[in-house]
Amino acid sequence: MIHIKTADEIAAMRLTCRLAAETLLMIESHVVDGITTQEINDICHNFIIDHGAIPSPLNYRGFPKSICTSVNQQVCHGIPGKRVLKSGDIVNVDITTYYNGFHGDTSKTFHVGQPTPKGLKICQVSKECLDAGIRAVAPNARLGDIGWAIEQVAQANRCSVVREYCGHGIGREFHEEPAVLHYGKPNTGAVLKPGMIFTIEPMINLGKPEIRHLPDRWTVVTRDHSLSAQFEHTILVTETGCDVLTSLDGEYLTS
Ligand code: MF3
Ligand code: CO
Ligand code: CO
Repeated sequence: MIHIKTADEIAAMRLTCRLAAETLLMIESHVVDGITTQEINDICHNFIIDHGAIPSPLNYRGFPKSICTSVNQQVCHGIPGKRVLKSGDIVNVDITTYYNGFHGDTSKTFHVGQPTPKGLKICQVSKECLDAGIRAVAPNARLGDIGWAIEQVAQANRCSVVREYCGHGIGREFHEEPAVLHYGKPNTGAVLKPGMIFTIEPMINLGKPEIRHLPDRWTVVTRDHSLSAQFEHTILVTETGCDVLTSLDGEYLTS
């Protein structure tokens, strides 16, 4: 069952989503040549705690850190550690906050120092994929419309969509129904209704879509070692379209 949030729940979701977005905005200036992913983790952890929230990933199904940091060919769920970021790297920072009983989830892929042409391409296409998915969200649209819109953009750019991981409903639980696939057919899947809240978070590879896991059993990497990038927002379905709860800058507002 897909939970339809009440007005009070939506108000609470706005707060946790805003905090997640503020954490991501805060960390941007720290993502520079020479910083370790552990240091990025610690800065985010402290920011979240200082705002009266808890980082949702910490101890989630045994995940050992407070955020995910996924570098270059890492697709998602990278574990922060001793790795030193260097110019030309791309790194996805995925933030989930638990505040007053609700989770908010957002991520972005940053360029470290001077971007490379391949890094620029995969980040651009990945962001376009998220935006195409968001544009497909409206009451009475269907989940398959979102996945289809994303896959069209990926294919048009000769990139591929990772199929093993998807977006998800979110609220009192980190991962709720529905599963939001980043591929699909128009006019299929659950019908979207006002009050539904879910993430869209396509993982887009510059090469083939296949993945494998590192021995740490968390980090997901591309099988062909191609670059992968991801952007994620938490989205509320409204009466007229949608509201991107983890966007701070009005980027998705239409008039
Ligand atoms: N934030 C990720 C997502 O978008 C989930 C991370 S789960 C963890 O759904 F355990 F790896 F942290
Ligand atoms: Co996330
Ligand atoms: Co998510």
